[in-house]
Amino acid sequence: MGQLESKTAVITGGSSGIGLATARRFLDEGARVFVTGRRQAELDAAVAALGDGATGIRGDVSSLDDLDRLFVTVRREAGSLDILFANAGGGSGLVTIDDITVDMYEKVFGANVRGTLFTVQKALPLMAEGGSIVITGSTSTSRGNAGFGVYSASKAAVRQLTRVWAAELASRGIRVNTVMPGPTDTPGMRGIAKGDPVRERALLAGMAAKIPLARIGSPAEVANAVLFLASDQASFMTGAEVFVDGGDAQVLL
Ligand SMILES: NC(=O)c1ccc[n+]([C@@H]2O[C@H](COP(=O)([O-])OP(=O)(O)OC[C@H]3O[C@@H](n4cnc5c(N)ncnc54)[C@H](OP(=O)(O)O)[C@@H]3O)[C@@H](O)[C@H]2O)c1
Repeated sequence: MGQLESKTAVITGGSSGIGLATARRFLDEGARVFVTGRRQAELDAAVAALGDGATGIRGDVSSLDDLDRLFVTVRREAGSLDILFANAGGGSGLVTIDDITVDMYEKVFGANVRGTLFTVQKALPLMAEGGSIVITGSTSTSRGNAGFGVYSASKAAVRQLTRVWAAELASRGIRVNTVMPGPTDTPGMRGIAKGDPVRERALLAGMAAKIPLARIGSPAEVANAVLFLASDQASFMTGAEVFVDGGDAQVLL
C-alpha cells in the first residue's frame, strides 16, 4: 500500500520541475493530485505525462480569483484536501541592487510571498486534522549571494511564515514544514541562462563546484523529501526545514 493512499493533494507549480516530480512521486504513493501552473500547454503536457489520478487547474498563485477557482474545483471534485504543496514561484534572474525594478519586485514577491500566503489561507477551509502543508523555500536564504536579493528575501519571508503557521495551526492538527532545495536541475533553474547554452553550461558547472557533494540536485531528490514531510512519516515534525542541497547550506567546502 502506498504512503498516500486515499489522500488528496494540491501542488501549485506542478507542471514543471520540482512540482512535477513531486506530483509523480505522490501519484506513485496512491494520492489523487491536482496540479497548477499558468501556462495551459505545459499544464496539459504535465497532466498527460502524469496519467490517471492527476488533474490540471490553470491559474496564477498571485491572483486571488484564480486561487478561489482552484479550491472551489478541488472542493467540488474531491470534497476535502489532505496535502498542500505550495511550491509555485521563482526568481527574475540575477539582478543586483542598482538594477532592481518595482515590476520585478512585485512579480517575485507576488508569486513567492503573496501567492504562498493566500494559497495556504484559501486551502485551509478544506483541510482537517492530520493535514500537511509543505512550502518550497530555498538555500538562497542561507547567505548573501550577489544578484539574489529580491528572490532570497522572498524565500526568507516564506520560511518565516512557515514557523508562524506551524504555531497557528498546531491546535488544529495541521503540520507546516519547509523544504529547502539547493541548486536543482529544473527548467526554471536553467532559465536563468536565458536560453544561451554556453551560459547554461557555465551556470550548472559553477553551481556544482560550490556544492559539497559536487553536483546539483534532481527534482526527484527534492520530491522524496516533500513526500516525507507530507506523509505520516513526519508526524512529529512541524515548523521545520529540510535541506535537500548536497550539503550546500551546512557544510564548508
Ligand atoms: N531549481 C532550483 O534550483 C530551486 C532551488 C530552490 C528553490 N526553488 C524553488 O522551487 C520552486 C519550483 O521551482 P522549479 O525550479 O521547479 O522551477 P520550474 O521548473 O520553473 O517550475 C515552476 C513551476 O511553478 C509554476 N509557476 C511559476 N510561477 C507561478 C505563478 N505565479 N502561479 C502559478 N504557477 C506558477 C510554473 O508554471 P508556469 O510558469 O506555467 O506558471 C511551474 O509549474 C520555486 O518556488 C523555486 O523558487 C528552486
